Amino acid sequence: MSAENLRIPRHVAIIMDGNGRWARERGLPRSEGHRAGAESVRRVVEACNEFGVHYLTLYAFSTENWQRPKSEVQTLMRLLRQFLEDRSSDLQRHCIRLDVIGEMNRLPAAVQRRLRKVMDETSANTNGVLTLALSYGSRAELVRAARALAAKVSAGDLKVGDIDERRFAAELYTAGLPDPDLVIRTAGEQRLSNFLLWQASYAEFWVTSACWPDFGREHFLDALRDFSRRQRRFGGVADA
Ligand code: IPE
Ligand code: IPE
Ligand code: MG
Repeated sequence: MSAENLRIPRHVAIIMDGNGRWARERGLPRSEGHRAGAESVRRVVEACNEFGVHYLTLYAFSTENWQRPKSEVQTLMRLLRQFLEDRSSDLQRHCIRLDVIGEMNRLPAAVQRRLRKVMDETSANTNGVLTLALSYGSRAELVRAARALAAKVSAGDLKVGDIDERRFAAELYTAGLPDPDLVIRTAGEQRLSNFLLWQASYAEFWVTSACWPDFGREHFLDALRDFSRRQRRFGGVADA
């Protein structure tokens, strides 16, 4: 199947895993795996631009990742800051808007400043949306939404009976973002690791054994080809 007649998902979300294993296989420190992983981000942003994927969401740092050794967390935050410095011009060139989901206020102040700057600079861009999930965890996101709704109810601004899926989704970090059509996970693990539990309800799941630093255009194209062959039923019945 050529790239031309692929059915392109509107929103692809990626669980970028395996940086540590990639480094270990090469006798390198984990930090080198993370550094190489930043290069894969650049490639996949290019691929989305090439194939016309409008929304790309990248799981870059989970709520649970704060438990990692302090030095590793510092490396990841430093690389994130570096990425924002190096890549903001690419985002502008491709007219892509940057967004963040997660507990942004837990990130180091310098990282928050950079993020705000790039988000401001790219806020009018309309060619695509790159969403970084940072200090993101789905369960925390759901609890936060429940609290926001409860606060509205107790303030008398909302009736319990008026809470429906649409109102609930509007309280999530992803409000305004369409649900992912395709969730990709690298490095072989077949789990969501607390990523987009609500939003990925009907996403197609695609796993590759390739570690994130090895992930490139060809893997992405493989995933798109596979997605094109899937039949999404959303609980209905297949066409006769
Ligand atoms: C993904 O790679 C990056 C983050 C989770 C931040 P890992 O660091 O999880 O790599 P492995 O799973 O240990 O190989
Ligand atoms: C998921 O990877 C989180 C990110 C990719 C940011 P992890 O490496 O943290 O997930 P587990 O521990 O294998 O479930
Ligand atoms: Mg991992």
